[in-house]
Amino acid sequence: MSQSRENKSVMLAPLAGVTDSAFRVIAEENGADKTFTEMVSVNALRYDNRATYDIMYHSDLEHKSNIQIFGRDEDIIEEVVKDKINILPYYDEICFNMGCPAPKIFKNGQGSALLSDPHKVYSIAKTLVDSTDKIVSVKYRLGINEDSINYIEVGHALEDAGVDYVILHARTREQFYQGKARWDEIRKLKEDLSIPVIANGDVYTVEDYINILEQTKADGVMIARGAMGNPFIFRQIKDYLAGREVSRVSFREILATIKRQYDLSLAYKDERLVVNQMRKHVGWYIKGLAQATTFRKRVNETKTSQEIFDLLDEYERYLEENYDREERSNIK
Ligand SMILES: Cc1cc2nc3c(=O)[nH]c(=O)nc-3n(C[C@H](O)[C@H](O)[C@H](O)COP(=O)(O)O)c2cc1C
Repeated sequence: MSQSRENKSVMLAPLAGVTDSAFRVIAEENGADKTFTEMVSVNALRYDNRATYDIMYHSDLEHKSNIQIFGRDEDIIEEVVKDKINILPYYDEICFNMGCPAPKIFKNGQGSALLSDPHKVYSIAKTLVDSTDKIVSVKYRLGINEDSINYIEVGHALEDAGVDYVILHARTREQFYQGKARWDEIRKLKEDLSIPVIANGDVYTVEDYINILEQTKADGVMIARGAMGNPFIFRQIKDYLAGREVSRVSFREILATIKRQYDLSLAYKDERLVVNQMRKHVGWYIKGLAQATTFRKRVNETKTSQEIFDLLDEYERYLEENYDREERSNIK
């Protein structure tokens, strides 16, 4: 950890099914400089789809959240941005998705499918820039597959269209989330573009944050899977940047954060939905703690939030009784 501690922004990535308002609040409270909604379909938003507005729910506790959208048709993008997004004062920024590999999205020519046509990339980006005064960013991948790696060309199209910055997830569409993210490609993009480049892929620890910046010289870092069940990574990075010792995460803090996420979720969502949606979060949060598998199974059987809170209390007592002082502060 000997590199200079230049304060480069660290962002929570858009994550479908994960980065709802509750989790974004927690990431922000732990020090994330920016957070994003999960990707929102402009086509669905055009027809005021109810589920889409649920995804876009924003709480007063959020000050750093932004919206991510996806689509293909410039006319719809323009209409939706002008009529439905520009009026939302709490989103400073619109991030456009050109990286999603999911077959359903790809088949519709959206997400990463757009990378096959840099002219289309330019045209969409120009439409966005011309339709809003908000900051515009684009998140994309290296290319569709090994034979069509074109992130530099796409990066120039985005820069020429006037986007404020780009986020590169250093994998191809074909790789989905497999294989190591190629940080050297992020560096090449950074060397080639004038607009800021944010590095994304495989940052799970403070060391990864330091290394990705050192290797790519990027202007910031976006964290996705490394924040799932571990929003504490933002606080740890902030500790490092402030020259403090990187703080450990205790099981007490983990359990308290799970409870807070339930409370934040219950404030705007139906209890049954929360109980259901929170199961995966709990699994990620407690991974690595003693008896996590048994406890997770029990959480998956609960039906009400009260049952879950009781279970969390029971788990906390179990961990307290079975761990000595040293281990307690050293769990994650
Ligand atoms: C469950 C899941 C959901 C995701 N949803 C989105 C999304 O809505 N929008 C997006 O741009 N990327 C999405 N991604 C991609 C991540 O934002 C990120 O680019 C990718 O996981 C690589 O970063 P990581 O190695 O830090 O996980 C998703 C990834 C996962 C695992």
